[in-house]
Amino acid sequence: MIREMGYIYPNGTEALININLSISKGELVGIMGKNGAGKTTLIRTLNGLIRPSRGNIFIENENINSKTIASLSKNVGIVFQNPYHQLFANSIEEEIKFSLKSLNLSKEEIQNRINQILQDFNLEKYRKRSPLNISGGESKKLAIASIICRNPEVLVFDEPTLGQDEKEIKFFINLINNERKKGKTIIIITHNTEFAYEYLPRTILMADGQIVADGLTKRVLNNTFLLSQTSLILPQIRQFCSALQQIGFQETNNITSRNEMVEYLRNFLKDKSTKT
Ligand SMILES: Nc1ncnc2c1ncn2[C@@H]1O[C@H](COP(=O)(O)OP(=O)(O)OP(=O)(O)O)[C@@H](O)[C@H]1O
Ligand SMILES: [Mg+2]
Repeated sequence: MIREMGYIYPNGTEALININLSISKGELVGIMGKNGAGKTTLIRTLNGLIRPSRGNIFIENENINSKTIASLSKNVGIVFQNPYHQLFANSIEEEIKFSLKSLNLSKEEIQNRINQILQDFNLEKYRKRSPLNISGGESKKLAIASIICRNPEVLVFDEPTLGQDEKEIKFFINLINNERKKGKTIIIITHNTEFAYEYLPRTILMADGQIVADGLTKRVLNNTFLLSQTSLILPQIRQFCSALQQIGFQETNNITSRNEMVEYLRNFLKDKSTKT
């Protein structure tokens, strides 16, 4: 829970203004908004990388004010926008090993976790390779693996689908589904309205350092005023419905997914063929 939080960067930029926010354990939430809205700044406050200039943050009812980054990062794992800000070890194996270092695990457990995560993420073949010598998409995956291996209760992803191909986006969706089954709280920053519309039940919309909307994604991303205010594109399914409404199909107003559209068109065509 975040109460009346504000943050001003040392250069005077007021990046967060009076943020009030509550996320329940096990929730899956999106944060959206245009470039410079304050999304990354907001998540950096969650593991103590930056400390609020005003207000408070509580995780499981504890004020995180007095907690160190080291202890907070055991609970909150953040995968940053640019993997190269996160990766620095000499090999992919070392990268995971370093990430596990502060968890006080036995040597055997560390080795088991490294093997498991490299296998789960299909990165075994690059084990000894430098993180600098893999592709952009693979480095993004490695950055995710290096956080997941720590098994934090809260997972935060900054633009996880950016630059990823369809197969990797599917891999990511599968990953968040699995983490949710384990009861993890997941926060995802994204500009991808299609992804948010389909997979994220709740969306927090930010503009100019403030929260301008917070609610059901299907409602938030249907609000054309809010979308234009935050430079986001109406999801394709809604664009299609709006085109159909303009030519008289008002009932498509309630359609929110591809499956509902297929069902609607199937019934429409069935009706039409029985009438003719
Ligand atoms: N290290 C910094 N020092 C000073 N100002 C910063 C710093 N990082 C970000 N800002 C400023 O703070 C504001 C919020 O930036 P932030 O990175 O949180 O935006 P964002 O919503 O994540 O944008 P994007 O979608 O481009 O990633 C912007 O005005 C930005 O210029
Ligand atoms: Mg950002």
